[in-house]
Amino acid sequence: MRDLGVYAEVAPSETPASALAGRKGIIISGGPSSVYDPGSPTIDPSVLRSGTPVLGICYGQQLLAHLLGGRVEKGERGEYGFAQLNLKTNDILLRGIDTPQQVWMSHRDLVTEPPPGFETLGITNTCPVAAMSAPKQGLFAVQFHPEVAHTPCGRQLLSNFLFDICGCRQDWNPTGQIRALEEHIRAAAGNRNVFFFVSGGVDSTVAYTLCLKALGPDRVHGAYVDTGLMREGETEFVRAQFAALGARAFQIEDAGPQFLKALECATDPEQKRHIIGEEFVKVQERILEGETFLDGSWILGQGTIYPDTIESGGSAKADLIKTHHNRVAGIQRLIDQGRIIEPLASFYKDEVRAVGRELGLPAEFLDRHPFPGPGLAIRCLCGSAHGAPEKNPFGWVLPIRSVGVQGDSRTYRAVLAVEDFPTTEEAAKLVNHTEGVNRVVVTVAGAVHAMGARPAYLTPARLARLRRADAIVRQLSRESGFDQQIWQFPVVLIPFGTDELPDSIVLRPIDSVDGMTANVVRMPEDLLKQMARELTAVEGVAGVFYDLTNKPPATIEWE
Ligand code: XMP
Repeated sequence: MRDLGVYAEVAPSETPASALAGRKGIIISGGPSSVYDPGSPTIDPSVLRSGTPVLGICYGQQLLAHLLGGRVEKGERGEYGFAQLNLKTNDILLRGIDTPQQVWMSHRDLVTEPPPGFETLGITNTCPVAAMSAPKQGLFAVQFHPEVAHTPCGRQLLSNFLFDICGCRQDWNPTGQIRALEEHIRAAAGNRNVFFFVSGGVDSTVAYTLCLKALGPDRVHGAYVDTGLMREGETEFVRAQFAALGARAFQIEDAGPQFLKALECATDPEQKRHIIGEEFVKVQERILEGETFLDGSWILGQGTIYPDTIESGGSAKADLIKTHHNRVAGIQRLIDQGRIIEPLASFYKDEVRAVGRELGLPAEFLDRHPFPGPGLAIRCLCGSAHGAPEKNPFGWVLPIRSVGVQGDSRTYRAVLAVEDFPTTEEAAKLVNHTEGVNRVVVTVAGAVHAMGARPAYLTPARLARLRRADAIVRQLSRESGFDQQIWQFPVVLIPFGTDELPDSIVLRPIDSVDGMTANVVRMPEDLLKQMARELTAVEGVAGVFYDLTNKPPATIEWE
């Protein structure tokens, strides 16, 4: 909504209708529950009688149907991926939208009969009610996801809802808010100073720069924790970047050995994330104590952005998909004490870039691909068991599990490796139709039948292997211009190989708008050949795979 120029906030589903009075419109979002689950989220039913226009999306449509006397049926396997929407009629919600349309689906249950007074607007192969409305009551709903980039008519549909149905005006703009943000920082800090742990990424640098502007260089201290989990050349880059910003108090803490020791035996993704989060807090506390920053005259600044809080279960009902390291227990304690400033916590990534541009940060820095806080640790997969790949009708199911998100819930499932490049639609079908799998990769190099999983941990040798592979991919992507066509390019090391060459590399170039959903991007064949050649020459690397799974059903990172 904000991207369309309309200010919007996320509220818990149990918000009473009275607290929503005066809103121009209400959107009931998707979610992982079934309306039949005990305790599943519901809304104050008088919201639907208030006259305020309501748009239900996915679970929101099912909830509308359920509350208003339609029929919702339990789905068995669910549907994740592209679908073709055939419109039966163009009401005000669908004005300007032709039929058929490609739409994005991610659901289990479905509405099979609209409530009395509703008209079915469109259908897909699997959904007898893919869109429905009762315009006189101001009620509209769709099963597909208009809010993701994979639904090309989504923006039109949402614009119709905002402007034609709700009567909103385009009056929200992330730029032009720097003064207000600075005032907010000054008010929150009071006479305390702000201490920042910066990562060198866009979010923490923009948040830090805002504080630097608001409070001046003597009141803002920056520390960069070298976790030993960063990419090649990163520490030097960060040092130069902060010098250029005019930072006066800036320190680099070498904590690599501490992180590696703590992660020594960890193999489970959530466990790794928790360990990293806790080690971060330990380093933070050590620095704070060492520098006598604990006397109450200092607070912690962070570059947390809105999607971080949603995906960590920060809003009451969003399912926990991955624990982001800035939301683990240790940091939570600081939040509970009110000793934290997160100036960008209500902004989306593209809004943060707009703020950064307005602050005068260089474009080549702002356009850097995002890099996750836990660093290469969540791209270096570990495991404690041996395992062989299993042949199935489509390819090989690898004994390697990765994280996914299906119907807004977290999954941790196996990977299917196929021989030939499937189309995006075929890849989605392969995942939907293969039991226990949430990701499909194509084998670019290596003999899968002769490879296996073996016990592997986060060792300096494996990290060095991944760091080298990542640097090769980054360099080739930059030289070829491919990095301009993508939003992010995770390179993943998996413990799948042979006795001599124990690991393989996975390439995961994707396009995305805000990281909430993502599209696979295919690179030119020559470039892929060259990458495979250079990657298989890296010490210890047996194979190269290309991840062809959109988000959903797979997350961008493998852990
Ligand atoms: P997923 O894997 O959840 O990633 O689809 C979405 C985006 O978030 C980034 N990511 C993180 N960023 N701390 C971060 O700062 C984290 O713990 C973290 N986990 C994932 C990921 O790189 C992608 O851009």
